[in-house]
Amino acid sequence: MRPIVAPFPAARLRRTRQSGAIRALVQENHLSAADLIWPIFLRDGEGVEEPISSMPGVVRYSVDRAVEAAKRAHDLGIPVICLFPYTDPALKTVDCTEAWNPENLSNRATRAIKAAVPGIAVMTDVALDPYNINGHDGFVDNGEIVNDRTVEALVKQALSQAEAGADIIGPSDMMDNRIGAIRAALEGAGHKDTMLMSYSAKYASAFYGPFRDAVGASGALKGDKKTYQMNPANSDEALRLVERDLQEGADMVMVKPGMPYLDICTRVKTTFGVPTFAYQVSGEYAMIKAAAQNGWIDGEKAMIESLMAFKRAGCDGILTYFAPEVAALTAKGV
Ligand code: PBG
Repeated sequence: MRPIVAPFPAARLRRTRQSGAIRALVQENHLSAADLIWPIFLRDGEGVEEPISSMPGVVRYSVDRAVEAAKRAHDLGIPVICLFPYTDPALKTVDCTEAWNPENLSNRATRAIKAAVPGIAVMTDVALDPYNINGHDGFVDNGEIVNDRTVEALVKQALSQAEAGADIIGPSDMMDNRIGAIRAALEGAGHKDTMLMSYSAKYASAFYGPFRDAVGASGALKGDKKTYQMNPANSDEALRLVERDLQEGADMVMVKPGMPYLDICTRVKTTFGVPTFAYQVSGEYAMIKAAAQNGWIDGEKAMIESLMAFKRAGCDGILTYFAPEVAALTAKGV
């Protein structure tokens, strides 16, 4: 549909921009706390909030502090909190068994948050990289990232998360067939309501750098992730991945990173009409924070503008490290 524009002066398109009240009246998209998923980092200990230097304002929380963070998020109207553990290097192995230890950091935090703040949904991450001695999301065999054996491990990891009480499981590993295998295992174990948000279109991106620092995977990673994460030059392939994941039982899909891939968000949403999310990743957050700290941009305005872009592109929600900051602002309405 093409809007009809009468010739000047019948149409003066500036008329509907003349005041704040009128601009609010004709605003097409809105951003609110309900659109946000807040990713947080976990570490061992008690009473700890450890800053991450490449992500100003972001910390690693010990479980007790993560519970307090979840309470704050819930009070701000944020519906989902997403957990990423920083794993003690001593627990990283070739076989990654810590990934499905019922007592691992992520599972302990899930149980503690669900017990203290039952109203917030907990999302967890399925991938082996925090537990893998070589930093990859899958098992490495003779330099090759092996698919099928990795999927068996991911199923065990996902089951341990569902058992701990995770509401949404987020496979971020990009192995083939993991959604179908996890969905079947969840059904088999009676977790029929556990949701899967698939990182369907996840690109091999330079914007993940600060995250890898945050989870302690930077030093460990050998090589790159190009045999499983997508080529940034591709777009049709994203649709194939989304379709495949939906057929395998994904409830929601994700595009990652966010702002450089807004075209993909729009194609996914318009093609499939399913709940579509974007991950505004660590590097995107770090760029905005760094420029703001230098006084080069207005950090608050850039934050809102960057998040509104996802709504305009058709996303139902956004995973963002800005979540508490933006939720506090949007309480006033933006
Ligand atoms: C890995 C994973 C990554 C992110 C989320 N899960 C990094 C990677 O693929 O190397 C990145 C998130 C961010 O940069 O904020 N399973």
